[in-house]
Amino acid sequence: MLFYYIIIVLSLLIILAALIVLFFILWSFVTLISTKVPFAPTPKKTINLALKEAEVKAGQVVYDLGCGDGRVLLAAEKFGAKTVGFELSLSNYLKTKFKIWLTGSKSKIYRKNFLKQNLSDADIIFCFLVGKVMPKVKEKLKNNLKPGTKIISYAFAFPSWQPYKILETKPSKTYFYKL
Ligand SMILES: C[S@@+](CC[C@H](N)C(=O)[O-])C[C@H]1O[C@@H](n2cnc3c(N)ncnc32)[C@H](O)[C@@H]1O
Repeated sequence: MLFYYIIIVLSLLIILAALIVLFFILWSFVTLISTKVPFAPTPKKTINLALKEAEVKAGQVVYDLGCGDGRVLLAAEKFGAKTVGFELSLSNYLKTKFKIWLTGSKSKIYRKNFLKQNLSDADIIFCFLVGKVMPKVKEKLKNNLKPGTKIISYAFAFPSWQPYKILETKPSKTYFYKL
């Protein structure tokens, strides 16, 4: 009898785990449809090169727009920056929350659409998005950021903005702008 109970409990646990996985897959799909930006991480070496190039200083406010697994936030924090990330994907949001907790980081992450947030206290903006959303993001940044804010965009350039620097990072270039 005990054997059958164990089998039933194990089966229920497997079904529950499968349902949780399915939930995250469906949620990621819905997020992808709404943002049109899939998750892909920027290589850590590129992040450090880019932050160095942008001369991130202690106390500066760094935002990662669509912060994925939080790697940019944690890297920028090592430069002494105050770091804030926005991420709509639930799985990435939870992963970053966990990483922040695990490392004792002071980074902040919000599960919010960065297009609807006030970014006017930013000193440096980091983003890795995709070409088709760049015009919309450009309008947002142009209207919301203070003069002098630096923008780092990995892999995708902003249309008709002249970067002051292009780093030949791998596998994609990194573009630097200053408002
Ligand atoms: C290509 S990944 C980059 C992740 C991270 N910034 C990095 O460089 O490793 C882009 C992320 O932006 C998120 N994203 C896209 N549009 C967003 C929006 N409007 N608000 C919040 N997050 C967004 C996506 O869910 C995705 O995880």
